[in-house]
Formats: sequence, C-alpha cells, structure tokens
Amino acid sequence: MEHVDTLVIGAGAAGLFCAGSIIQAAGKGQEQRVLVLDHARAAGEKIRISGGGRCNFTNLAANRERFLSQNPRFCASALSGFSPQDFVEMVNRAGIAWHEKTLGQLFCDDSARQIIDMLLHRMRGAELWLETAVQSVEASDSGYLVRTSRGVVSARNLVVAAGGRSIPKMGATGLGYELAEQFGLRIIEPRAGLVPLTFATQDLDLCRPLAGVAVDAVVSHGQGRSATRFRDGLLFTHRGLSGPAILQISSFWKPGDEITVDLAPDQDIAAAMRDMRGQNGRQAVSTALARYLPSRLADAITEELGFSGARLADQANPKLDRIAERVNRWRLRPVGSEGWRTAEVTLGGVDTRDLDARTMQARNQAGLYFIGEVVDVTGWLGGYNFQWAWASAHAAAKSI
Ligand code: FDA
Repeated sequence: MEHVDTLVIGAGAAGLFCAGSIIQAAGKGQEQRVLVLDHARAAGEKIRISGGGRCNFTNLAANRERFLSQNPRFCASALSGFSPQDFVEMVNRAGIAWHEKTLGQLFCDDSARQIIDMLLHRMRGAELWLETAVQSVEASDSGYLVRTSRGVVSARNLVVAAGGRSIPKMGATGLGYELAEQFGLRIIEPRAGLVPLTFATQDLDLCRPLAGVAVDAVVSHGQGRSATRFRDGLLFTHRGLSGPAILQISSFWKPGDEITVDLAPDQDIAAAMRDMRGQNGRQAVSTALARYLPSRLADAITEELGFSGARLADQANPKLDRIAERVNRWRLRPVGSEGWRTAEVTLGGVDTRDLDARTMQARNQAGLYFIGEVVDVTGWLGGYNFQWAWASAHAAAKSI
C-alpha cells in the first residue's frame, strides 16, 4: 500500500494546479507527499484543446457576477484569494507570451501546451499516475483508502478534481458526483452549459441555408430587468445557431424557455426602414435591409416574411414593423441543446452548501475537498472556468 499526504483525483486544470500549489508551499518547509491520478492517457487534455488550442487561461474581469451557482456568493472567497493577476504573474514568470483577445480574455500567443507544461513543472516533486482507474474510496482512521488499478493508496487528504460530465470522449465521468454522494454531500442536478442549442424544423429551415453567416448579435433570455443579455458573435449552422452569444445564453436557458435575438443591435430597424423609404422608396426591401445585415441573411428574412422583390415604397408602417421585429426581436424557442457531447462545461454539481467557501473542504468530512468544475460554480465563456479551477484549487491547497 502507498501512503501519501494528499491524493488528488483528476489531472485536469484544478487537480494539477492544486498539486502544484501544495508542492510550492511544501518547498517552504512543510514536507508533503502528493499523488495525482487520472484514468486518461495524458494530463490536462481539456487545457490542450481549450481556446482553439491557445487556452483562454483567465479573464481579467473575473468576479462572482460572472459565475452561475445556486449560491452566487460562494465563489467570491476563492476568487479573491487567487486573482487573474496572480495567474498572469505565473504565466509571465514561465516566459509564456500572451495577449488579450477581447473582453478581458487572455490567450497564449503560441500554444495551450505551454500552460500544461507550466502546471507540470510547478508540481515537480508530486507523483502523477496516468491511466489509473479509481475502483473504490472509503474513509479510514487515517483519512481515506482509495483502491486503484495500480493498488491501494492511503491518503490523509483526498481532493476530488474529477471535473463535470462534459465531453465523455475526453474522459469525463460522473465520478466526482458519485464520491460526493457517497460521503453525504448534496448534488445540484448537472446539466450541459456553454453548448450549441438545437431548434425546431421551422427555425432550421431558415438557419440551414445560411450556414456560415456570422453576425454581431445580442441574445437574451428572460424578461425586463431580470433578463440576461450577451452581445457577441452569432453563427448560423446546419444544426441551428451557435457562436459565443448562443453558448453564453445556453447556460441560462432551460427547456421550454424562449430566447430573443437582436441581429442588428446598434440599429432601430423600424426607424431606419422608414427613413430609407422616404429617401428612396424604389429600392427593394432586401436591398435596404442588407445595409444592416449580411445580404444572404437580409434576403432570407425578406423571403421568409413574403417581401421578396417588394419595394420599400409599397410597405405601410405595420409591414416595416414586422420586418424590424424579426431583425431586432427574433423570438425562438430552442428544442434542446447538443448536450454533453459538445458542452464546454457542466452546470450544477456538488452543492456549495456542503462545502466551506474558504477551503473547499466538505463540511461533514474532514480532509475531503472538491475543486474545479465538479462544484456547482460555472463561469461564463471567456476564461472564467479556468480561473475558477485555479482559484478553487488554490483555496484547497492553502488549507492542506
Ligand atoms: P477537467 O475536466 O479539466 O479535469 C478532470 C480530470 O478528471 C480529467 O483529466 C479526467 O480525465 C479526470 N477524470 C474524470 N473522471 C475520472 C475517473 N473516473 N477516474 C480518474 N480520472 C477521472 N475554460 C476556460 O476558462 N477557457 C477556455 O478557453 C476553455 N475552453 C474549453 C474548450 C473546450 C472544448 C472544453 C470542453 C472546455 C473548455 N473550457 C474552457 C472549460 C474548461 O476546460 C473546464 O472548465 C476546466 O477544464 C475544468 O477543470 P477541472 O480540472 O475541474 O476538470
């Protein structure tokens, strides 16, 4: 049997960072034996493919308002204990070149691989067992006994960093939730987040021929002051709508809900069409609309609403309003999402009521920690999820 001080299950962003933080602190005098295990063949696989291979490793605007959770205040303590600037300093020390793409999103100039290498370098001194399955976990007098495909490990502390259910092909399993339940922690039903939504046939009929068309859009969910809105890219695809604006809103959408899309956020299309009718009523409706939308989209909308070939001068205000409504307030009811297969994150997870926000330790079980995506804290798109992985891992490591 192997004896370690801390066993981390999951060699993803949170697990690797936690092991590194413990090792770095150990370098300052506290001797610790740390083992990280994972059933995958390589560590940090989601980091490798993240941000289109360049890893959007943090977001400068990370604060608790950028996260979804049943308890929106829970993440604040960990986030303030380890900030985006703290991670940037680490990246700078490692000599990794980076740039801000947009909206505070920081990416590597070269490759996400550099972040994985930095994390592995930082945890030198810890052991890493890959291709190792967890068979069972039980509490023991001295902590935890974990049966693995490589033998039994006894650990004083057990850190569960096994991630969520997103992308099973990349190694996601429900192990983190099973362990939480085994030790009496509650689970907020996991669901797919940051995922393309799917649409009914009548919407698909419009989207499919437009596959490849991209616009800057505002997508919203909910009504009035409680509405959630994202302004970002929207992409028509063969399966419906995708792009960052749709991924963002997907985390707020629930089955049966409607979303509203503004395809020309800076334009009051009703007013613009009236102006154009006054100036040049002979132009076609689609030509006028194409001043504000890609022409393929303008053509598709005018055709769908029965204005093909029609001139502006022949359209009374209510007709122009119909077109404007369709552009500025397009209401859609998605029928579902693409689910775990393509979801970038998992919403829900270990109920934060059962964790200490400062340490990520289970309230009812000394030495048992949950960090990263397995916890019911999910960031918006844009580097927030990695920042949560780093910050929650740091909080646990500090208390270990
Ligand atoms: P993570 O999933 O990284 O790690 C969990 C580990 O546990 C995995 O290595 C897995 O193999 C292991 N594991 C699971 N079950 C196990 C079992 N039964 N036995 C042993 N090991 C097990 N975020 C962001 O901030 N910026 C970005 O650019 C992106 N981009 C992005 C792209 C894509 C395509 C995806 C899918 C996701 C992103 N994300 C992202 C989200 C981000 O990748 C995610 O939030 C973090 O990786 C979560 O880190 P964790 O360590 O919690 O889980």
